[in-house]
Amino acid sequence: MLIILDFGSQYTQLIARRIREMGVFAQILPCDAKMSEILSKSPKAIILSGGPSSVFAQDSPVCSRELFNLDLPILGICYGMQLLAKFFGGTVIKSNVHEYGNAQVVLSSDKSKGDLLFSDIPRRFNVWMSHSDTITKIPDGFKVLASSNAFGFEKYPAAICDFKNKIFGLQFHPEVTHTQYGAALLKNFIFKISKASKNWNLKSFIDEEIKKVKSKIRNENVICGLSGGVDSSVTAALLHKAIGKKLTCIFVDNGLLRKDEEKRIREIFGSKLNLKIIYVNARKEFLKKLQGVTDPERKRKIIGHTFIDVFEREAKKIKNAKHLAQGTLYPDVIESKSVQGPSAVIKSHHNVGGLPEKMKLSLIEPLKFLFKDEVRVIAKHLGLPDEIAFRQPFPGPGLAVRVIGEITEERLNILKDADYILIDEMKKSGYYYKVWQSFAVLLPIKTVGVKGDSRSYENVIALRIVESTDGMTAKPSPMPHEFLHKVATKIVNHVNGVNRVVFDITTKPPATIEWE
Ligand code: XMP
Repeated sequence: MLIILDFGSQYTQLIARRIREMGVFAQILPCDAKMSEILSKSPKAIILSGGPSSVFAQDSPVCSRELFNLDLPILGICYGMQLLAKFFGGTVIKSNVHEYGNAQVVLSSDKSKGDLLFSDIPRRFNVWMSHSDTITKIPDGFKVLASSNAFGFEKYPAAICDFKNKIFGLQFHPEVTHTQYGAALLKNFIFKISKASKNWNLKSFIDEEIKKVKSKIRNENVICGLSGGVDSSVTAALLHKAIGKKLTCIFVDNGLLRKDEEKRIREIFGSKLNLKIIYVNARKEFLKKLQGVTDPERKRKIIGHTFIDVFEREAKKIKNAKHLAQGTLYPDVIESKSVQGPSAVIKSHHNVGGLPEKMKLSLIEPLKFLFKDEVRVIAKHLGLPDEIAFRQPFPGPGLAVRVIGEITEERLNILKDADYILIDEMKKSGYYYKVWQSFAVLLPIKTVGVKGDSRSYENVIALRIVESTDGMTAKPSPMPHEFLHKVATKIVNHVNGVNRVVFDITTKPPATIEWE
């Protein structure tokens, strides 16, 4: 395996993804990880990520110097390379100009063993840069492998190496697709320089996890909250494969799910996969608590707390339950170096984090080293259908945050019917699997229309269809006009109480994806 020390770059996770795609396991640790932790993983090499800091800043993040005594190949990327230069006595200068975007690098003609990093790569190619500090003098013992032009300098080092000690630095980002030969470069580092072997894949990962769970669980029982989302579904399916009937899933129907959701979950997990599932119909309890509530944050809090109450009540009925399985993913557990401080709370996300301590349960998180798209591949390996494996994200508080204003059964039903029509058309046309999310929102206003020969005064449905890679930013999908028109016509013709449909064309930021 390889270790990536995180200095806060927006691309750190991408480095891990790229390496895993090459069949080698990569794990991210904070840049100031203890040597004992690093050594316990027996890495084949270490990568120092980029980061937003300047090596000149007083509290700029650093890694342990002992790292350089381990005799392991080291690759510093962007900030990582500047840190190497500073550590070993080179000159890094501060610049107010930012080099951001495409640049061209040229390999040095002076051949040496360090060229192993660039083997089978042309002399001149385009790369992605994102930096302002620049190295003007490389440390003794290092060589310039490639250079670039910017900031009025004729040339500055874009790649350096101390081949004797297997230390390499790249000013550009090989992990982003805009860098030509970026993958080839990482491959050279991983296989030719670090001599790592290709022995990691998702199939072997599942087999390993199943083995681990089997040996951990003896006669106790495990509970798992099943929501139908890809993370909890894969967790449940994986555990079922490992321990069969010792797993009990709890499916809480809060009345805020999409139309026919409960029926589909019963079919897929109950009838087809034969999981032991307790269905809890808590619709009345949730709706009662939400009565008259219109504030989005209050809705979220009420739903979160009620979920925990219901779940705990049901879980207590399961004898000998000692563990709680959760579909936590890698991006949630990476302990990044917080260089920007805690971000402001925009929305309090629904989570069940308080449960394990409250109920004295130990946690089982078989997906905690995986990224979302890896989990989708595992879903297929475990025999889950596409509608689960490639399901769009659905918020924990469900339709409550899509019924703007007060939540009543009647308003929920209007939204469910409209949403069903949209999703059905998205699936039939193939758009469903191409976009990040598509859903309907019921607005808290009525507008005038004409239906037949009569005046109508009815609800408005907004359609939100967005593209995104991680939900952090998003832009409206450029849906064909005919498609939107078809959906709108179907909704006003088939859903009682709706006479107008609008399309949300706002990006995130400044809007969020959900409306509440
Ligand atoms: P926003 O609305 O903040 O949403 O732009 C970003 C992504 O997160 C999803 N979302 C949630 N997911 N629990 C979740 O598990 C929640 O409480 C929650 N709220 C929003 C949202 O659907 C989008 O994909």
